[in-house]
Amino acid sequence: MEKTFKRTLITTALPYANGPVHIGHLAGVYVPADIYARFLRLRGEDVVMVGGSDEHGVPITLRARKEGITPQEVVDRYHKIIKDSLEELGVSFDIYSRTTSELHHKTASEFFRHLYDKGEFTVQTALQPYDEKTQEFLADRYVTGTCPRCGNENAYGDQCEACGSSLNVTDLINPRSALTGEPVKMRETTHWYLPLDKWEEKLRHWILDGHKEWKTNVYGQCKSWLDAGLQPRAVSRDLKWGVPVPVEGAEGKVLYVWFDAPIGYISNTKELLPDTWERYWKDPETKIINFIGKDNIVFHCIVFPAMLMAYGDNFQLPENVPANEFLNLEGDKISTSRNWAVWLHEYLKDFPGKQDVLRYVLTANAPETKDNDFTWSDFQARNNNELVAILGNFVNRAIVLTHKYFGGVVPATTEAADVDRLLWEEIDRLKKAEEEAIATFHFREALKIAMDMARAGNKYLQETEPWKLAKTDMARTATVLNNALQVCANLAVAFEPFLPFTSAKLVKMLGGEKLTWDMLGCADLIPAGSKIAEAELLFDKIEDDQIEAQLKRLADTKKANEIAAWKAAPQAEDVDFDTFVKSDLRVGTVLECEKVPKADKLLRFLIDDGLEKRTIVSGIAKYYKPEELVGKQVCFIANLPPRKLKGIVSQGMILSAENSDGSIVLLTPSAPVAPGAKIG
Ligand code: MF3
Ligand code: ZN
Repeated sequence: MEKTFKRTLITTALPYANGPVHIGHLAGVYVPADIYARFLRLRGEDVVMVGGSDEHGVPITLRARKEGITPQEVVDRYHKIIKDSLEELGVSFDIYSRTTSELHHKTASEFFRHLYDKGEFTVQTALQPYDEKTQEFLADRYVTGTCPRCGNENAYGDQCEACGSSLNVTDLINPRSALTGEPVKMRETTHWYLPLDKWEEKLRHWILDGHKEWKTNVYGQCKSWLDAGLQPRAVSRDLKWGVPVPVEGAEGKVLYVWFDAPIGYISNTKELLPDTWERYWKDPETKIINFIGKDNIVFHCIVFPAMLMAYGDNFQLPENVPANEFLNLEGDKISTSRNWAVWLHEYLKDFPGKQDVLRYVLTANAPETKDNDFTWSDFQARNNNELVAILGNFVNRAIVLTHKYFGGVVPATTEAADVDRLLWEEIDRLKKAEEEAIATFHFREALKIAMDMARAGNKYLQETEPWKLAKTDMARTATVLNNALQVCANLAVAFEPFLPFTSAKLVKMLGGEKLTWDMLGCADLIPAGSKIAEAELLFDKIEDDQIEAQLKRLADTKKANEIAAWKAAPQAEDVDFDTFVKSDLRVGTVLECEKVPKADKLLRFLIDDGLEKRTIVSGIAKYYKPEELVGKQVCFIANLPPRKLKGIVSQGMILSAENSDGSIVLLTPSAPVAPGAKIG
């Protein structure tokens, strides 16, 4: 039996205020959350949707440093852009706030203090890298040095991207601060940890037994985290920017951004409803739904729930966390730093009045179960072939014909024919299907069903041909056009969660008022005798030149990134020929290839090098499936000294090239060659 609830609290992941929002954020979080919220409101339910900007964390301080401004100036700038653009897209937040607000600082601080007083934290002292020039501790990621395994001089304190090994800062040779280039010293520092292990059993039971209905991508990630066993997690950081740790002797320390940000959901609810917020958080009859992207799953399903359980006081856990996968752009990963994105505020400028087109395309192609690709040609095609040709066309025909034959006055129906009854049966079926799809977070499917309703309308006009009927049978023409107009009114309801601007336009044309979900399926929404407005196009065609302009912008970005990559890694010093030829480069054939256990980046290769079989370990597991490499030929350096990676002796290095998004492709000869063939 489906549980019933009295009210719903919808939360949306708080975007970092270190850049504007892009289509990836929209498709993953804000558009689906808004669809769900609008649907529940149409059903007359008690629903609150909260959001806000995530304004703490190291990346914001780095951005400020780079631009020579304060972190506050950074977040002020982007908070405004994000808030305004989401509003313009029609994302119907009841509140969109920010984590630098006084109320949030107070709420997060009090939350920490409550756990502290209850003894829910453990304390651990460890050595952390310290930059003496700026007098601050550095996150592992902001220390660079030479990789002890492969000699890469730009390895990070947590990982070497050249060979894929995961590292500790103390493993690096000559560790330097990424901020100043100064050598780093290790210093002792103390942090508070939330012992997640303490909550492991409860979390297992709550998710693995209690929420089998969650999306498989979410459930699966939770299961693998839980199966691996949970560890205590530090919830404080040595940083000046954030919510100060409210404990004596904690000067210079702030709450870890992932500790304070989810508490932002609570602060925002409080800010919106100072007197009744607790109803949305502490009553088991409230359904809490967290809309997030897949990189946020562990924080929302494991860490934040553990925080809430540790807090006690009847805080409720989410009922569902319908996380989406990622949206790519023209085949490449979206990236704020590489400017590879369609930014919402720019879209709104380039396509004024076309909010619903973007909402439509992002939903029709939403990455609900797997990563998906946004392409400008798909955007154009969906607008021209679906919004214009199906939905817009149907509504336009119904209204234009009503003006032509009845002077814009809704004609009265007489007797219903079979084709009319079939139409309404179909609409009733689609209504139920759409409702079921939205309620279970299948928004792509739901949108397709809404479009099927417009298709049913077109089919009805095709079958009844009112333009022919009008010559012989005005009574029948009246019935048909009345039905067609009623379908238009139904479409205003069915599309409201997805295309709110279009729906409002439609309501205005038909002379309606407030919509409710119950209206869907009704054949008498617009009274006979009422006057409708002149037809106004709901959508217009998007021409090739608009699409070409967008593609050109992306091509320019790509070129700029290539130049920036050269500047970041300028051509190395000349090497004399004799030194170069000492590198023994050869081709080999892959005999075996498999994942290295407990190393998510590494593959172990067994290679036929023409003489014998050699083992090489390579950090490309993220980009290749081992089984697809068996039988392929690869290029490798044969005469590197052997080195150990995760206990395996690697005899050489496989050659690959890296894209600017960090993805890696293997180099391979353009035609088969004998194993052992020399490269030169
Ligand atoms: N700022 C985070 C991100 O963009 C999301 C924070 S969600 C919250 O990945 F729960 F912490 F608020
Ligand atoms: Zn390395």
